[in-house]
Amino acid sequence: MSRTALVTGPTSGIGLSFAHQLAASGHDLVLVARDRERLERLAADLGQRYGAQAEVMVADLADRAAIGPVEARVADRERPVDLLVNNAGFGLKRTFLDNTVEQEQEMLDVLVTAVLRLTHAALGAMVARGSGAIVNVSSVAGYLPRGSYAAAKAYVTSLSEWADLTYRDKGVRVMALLPGFTHTEFHGRMEVDEGSAPTWMWLDADRLVHDALADLAKGRRISVPSKRYKVLILAARYTPTGVQARFQGLGRK
Ligand SMILES: NC(=O)c1ccc[n+]([C@@H]2O[C@H](COP(=O)([O-])OP(=O)(O)OC[C@H]3O[C@@H](n4cnc5c(N)ncnc54)[C@H](OP(=O)(O)O)[C@@H]3O)[C@@H](O)[C@H]2O)c1
Repeated sequence: MSRTALVTGPTSGIGLSFAHQLAASGHDLVLVARDRERLERLAADLGQRYGAQAEVMVADLADRAAIGPVEARVADRERPVDLLVNNAGFGLKRTFLDNTVEQEQEMLDVLVTAVLRLTHAALGAMVARGSGAIVNVSSVAGYLPRGSYAAAKAYVTSLSEWADLTYRDKGVRVMALLPGFTHTEFHGRMEVDEGSAPTWMWLDADRLVHDALADLAKGRRISVPSKRYKVLILAARYTPTGVQARFQGLGRK
């Protein structure tokens, strides 16, 4: 029997890599984002390349009313979602006080509220079934003082770790994926030049997703792609916050 994965934000970057690799490994897909044309093109491509069935759900995850049908799809016990990948996200180029509070709220809605609501809906169905997995795409930024984006990602990592500890013995896995700088559309959408962080810090989305799926299979609670980011995170844990703050400008220009 085929398994079904629901991926938010599969129209580019990390989500697109998840969609391809999951379809290649025999999953049917539910694809959730705002851009209908890109979603439909992707669904057709996944069908043609891998024989996967792909449903398209057009939803702006910053809009509470639009998340409702996605929550219902994730919770649908007649059509089980075996793997939820909460991946959709974006960052704001400017810092906190240079943004309107509405811009900050919209980012929080996508990075936190949508993840909270879809995780809640999925866990209910998965725990009742005694199986399922959730991957929440967080960020290494969650361990650093890098503004409201990092604060949102700290929430995602913490929620995921706690949920995995709590529901693992009920047959459900939750893993936080913590990318570092990754070549996707993320920085272009923010109008930030990828040259603002050193070349060695950039990761490849396909490799990152391949390693994340391997970490999920190994039962890891946190997936940090690449040795260099594993070392950086370890170093960050023992570095005073004031020193960490000197690197705030990386990847912002
Ligand atoms: N790239 C990095 O350096 C990096 C580092 C750490 C963490 N991350 C995290 O990785 C995740 C994926 O980002 P990415 O780097 O792959 O960026 P990306 O290429 O810009 O992709 C972002 C995806 O999210 C979707 N999305 C954005 N806002 C949305 C909304 N309001 N409603 C529904 N979908 C929305 C976009 O689809 P539509 O535009 O079609 O709606 C797109 O498919 C994010 O959570 C990001 O925070 C990225």
